[in-house]
Amino acid sequence: MSTATSASTATAEHTARQGYDRDVRVAVLGVGMMGQDHARRLARLTKGAELVAVSDVDVARTDAVAAEFGVRAIHDPSLAITDGEVDALVIATPGFTHEDLVLTALRAGKPVLCEKPLTTSPESSRRVVEAEAALGRRLVQVGFMRRFDAGYLQLRELIASGEYGKPLFLHCAHRNATTPPNFSSEMLMLDSVVHEVDIVRFLTGEEITAIRVLAPRSTSSAPEGLLDPQFVVMETESGTIVDVEIFVNTTFGYEVRTELVAERGQVRIGLPEGAVSQSASGWGGRIPRDFKERFGAAYDLEFQRWVDAVRAGVNVDGPGVWDGYAAAAVCAAGVESLKTGDRVEIDLGARV
Ligand SMILES: NC(=O)c1ccc[n+]([C@@H]2O[C@H](COP(=O)([O-])OP(=O)(O)OC[C@H]3O[C@@H](n4cnc5c(N)ncnc54)[C@H](O)[C@@H]3O)[C@@H](O)[C@H]2O)c1
Repeated sequence: MSTATSASTATAEHTARQGYDRDVRVAVLGVGMMGQDHARRLARLTKGAELVAVSDVDVARTDAVAAEFGVRAIHDPSLAITDGEVDALVIATPGFTHEDLVLTALRAGKPVLCEKPLTTSPESSRRVVEAEAALGRRLVQVGFMRRFDAGYLQLRELIASGEYGKPLFLHCAHRNATTPPNFSSEMLMLDSVVHEVDIVRFLTGEEITAIRVLAPRSTSSAPEGLLDPQFVVMETESGTIVDVEIFVNTTFGYEVRTELVAERGQVRIGLPEGAVSQSASGWGGRIPRDFKERFGAAYDLEFQRWVDAVRAGVNVDGPGVWDGYAAAAVCAAGVESLKTGDRVEIDLGARV
């Protein structure tokens, strides 16, 4: 199947302003690892959504995924965006394509759930922030799914309640079994720590003002030349210190945990949970294989809340373009720090 329906964009824009009393018709752009997972979610799980099309520059992949879900294959992603039978978009293409695709969606007046990162630089993310501000309404949600994880939500509520006093430290660990080929030392920051950057902003309600990245001895399990692990220290506006151990070639399992140390109490989230077994080989439980398992429920909730928001005409219920921009700015500073060894301050400029 291949289609290039021209758009009745004006109609789509009109409806995106008012919401929908029917299922929202969604197209997924980029159907690699994440896009296929999101297509499955939309087709089989998310209420109030109808997966109507997929689009990928890889024509064979587009056709195969479209056939799997019984939806249209649209070979040109920009035509998928303006298609009159597509109300909203999920962007799951590589980060360097996001700016163009999101700006095209903004011009078409269509809601977007864009996988992280919003874009690959603070400058390009700022352009998206300004484009959305010029429209005068919110259309873009960024795929920082940890904000929908039950543990982080509890932790945020606890911090906001003030019950344990002010947060002093957040100790975070982000561990991954292995890295794909060509994973660079900068990608530990841009691909992985970016999630900690966003969740720290979410938990504390503050911007991150400075960052320093240390690279200790690399594990012998890392590919030649990859600086893994790294240790990141961030400072928030009011003086909370955040440290992140990022270690992406542990050789087993996936683990993301956070410990809050506040004035009158400590809380840990992300510890192993579920069944604990006992047998001749000892006792213990399962370690999640990957992020899809660890954050499966968070992705599901993220999608449900986004679709509900689109149907309600508010289009965003979660991190938006400013959050994407702030994360890009902190990560760019982190990459600079990795190169120079210096503590780098972050100035986001005036909030748009
Ligand atoms: N939220 C998370 O936890 C999480 C986890 C993994 C990946 N991601 C993000 O999801 C996005 C996709 O990652 P992935 O691992 O699925 O990548 P992937 O390489 O598996 O898939 C990307 C797909 O996009 C297609 N593509 C490339 N350029 C395109 C374009 N201009 N238009 C349409 N299709 C295009 C490719 O052909 C490929 O099929 C990235 O932004 C990544 O950072 C988020």
